Amino acid sequence: MNHYMNRVALNTFSYFCHACGECAGDTFSVDAGKKPSEESEPEKFYHGFVLGLLVDQAAGYVVKSNRESGFGRYDVVMEPKNGKDTAVIMEFKVLDDYDGEKELADTAKNARSCKGERITDMKNMIINGDSIDEMNKMEAESVDLIFADPPYWMRVDGVLKRVEGTDFDGCDDEWDQFESLDSYEAFTRKWLEACYRILKPDGSIWVIGGMQCIYTIGAIMQQIGFWFINDVVWHKKNPTPNFMGTRLNNSHETLIWAAKSKQSRFTFHYKTAKEFNLDTVSDEEFEKGSRKQLGSVWRIAVCSGNERLRDEEGSKLHSTQKPQEMLDRIVAISSSIGDLVLDPFGGTMTTGVAAKKMGRNYIMIERNATYCEYGKKRLDAVEFEDTPIARADFDQKSVKVSVPEMIRANALIENEWFYFRQGDAVARLMADGKLDYNGEILDMHSCAAKARGVKAKRLNGFDYWYVMRDESRVSISEIRDAYREAIQQTE
Ligand SMILES: C[S@@+](CC[C@H](N)C(=O)[O-])C[C@H]1O[C@@H](n2cnc3c(N)ncnc32)[C@H](O)[C@@H]1O
Repeated sequence: MNHYMNRVALNTFSYFCHACGECAGDTFSVDAGKKPSEESEPEKFYHGFVLGLLVDQAAGYVVKSNRESGFGRYDVVMEPKNGKDTAVIMEFKVLDDYDGEKELADTAKNARSCKGERITDMKNMIINGDSIDEMNKMEAESVDLIFADPPYWMRVDGVLKRVEGTDFDGCDDEWDQFESLDSYEAFTRKWLEACYRILKPDGSIWVIGGMQCIYTIGAIMQQIGFWFINDVVWHKKNPTPNFMGTRLNNSHETLIWAAKSKQSRFTFHYKTAKEFNLDTVSDEEFEKGSRKQLGSVWRIAVCSGNERLRDEEGSKLHSTQKPQEMLDRIVAISSSIGDLVLDPFGGTMTTGVAAKKMGRNYIMIERNATYCEYGKKRLDAVEFEDTPIARADFDQKSVKVSVPEMIRANALIENEWFYFRQGDAVARLMADGKLDYNGEILDMHSCAAKARGVKAKRLNGFDYWYVMRDESRVSISEIRDAYREAIQQTE
């Protein structure tokens, strides 16, 4: 509303507001500004005007103005008297710049952006819109985890040919085009700044990129203030060959994992991450229970076969759909059940699938309506799978129990022999939890080191000692687990 209309409003409706305020009773209470200021709040014009029109509705609704609605303070709230009709909340906003408002929906969208979208209203949604605009509407510090797979600006020129002469379908999509490095940098800065604002102080962000963009992205992230946790190499098991044989086969992409600051206490499920490590643990070893720290080189196949989304004609829907396995890892190790995960470049909604499957909330933003449509169908088919990985059970702190306590509970027996996996009895258990090793009294960790003859002063006894149960050796670690479970059940 312009200056002229504002003056009209102040001259006419400020009077109207005072007058109505007196006669409203309990069904029509008005408070559109007892002391209307000269220039500010021109929306009071509409506020008063609409209230005037709503007098007509007083039989069916309790109409309140500028009152607490339970969702914050709104301009007008209409509560149906019969308790059945739809309640209405109205908010008046004036934009001097009505850029791009062609339809009522555009006006509503702009109005929402004046206030900051309530994140609770947006959970588990695909938003078909521009990621920078949409993130700028959201509440600050409201998101736990962001995964971003932005345009790489691949700069693909002409048609790539396979060795046998067929065309290779690379990424030359409209959304991946930029005029210059300056424009790519400006775009990158804007969306990363928006991410920084909405990320919680203890949240974290993953950004993936190829050699074309990851250095630009990384530099801008550091300028904004992100703190790098790791960079991860996605080593593609089945990379696209360099058809011309003119340079190395480009067989990896890079992920940057960053926190909001060095002080952030970001989520990392360390032991759960081990469950994904088949890169340095063979399938066989894994089967046998062997687990090792997850490293920063992830060998994952490029998305193909049944996993790849196809359109009605059976063609690849999206040129850069990411493998589900990658997003499963990321969501599992750096967020928890109930967290909010946001992806500003949703594509086929791979991130949303991982989030929903593991009981996280999600917000997916994607500009292309077709991707949103297919992505929605994909997400609708997903259900929460209540697994130890989703719950990060491996990282739950175990109840602390001591050996003397286990002896008192008869889980271990005073005077019984301790063995290694093989060989004769080695040491005898004493009432205070220490071991008698050939007359020397040692705690079980020092005793394990000494009896095995290693240089280290201590070995974790729970990894080494066994006792006899029903003529078989049972690890004391197993006995401790069973004891813990028993006491947790009785608590
Ligand atoms: C690299 S793809 C993401 C693919 C996605 N990770 C997947 O697994 O399917 C980037 C996506 O961002 C979308 N996009 C590009 N610019 C955008 C913008 N400004 N706002 C929202 N989406 C955008 C593109 O349409 C494209 O689908």
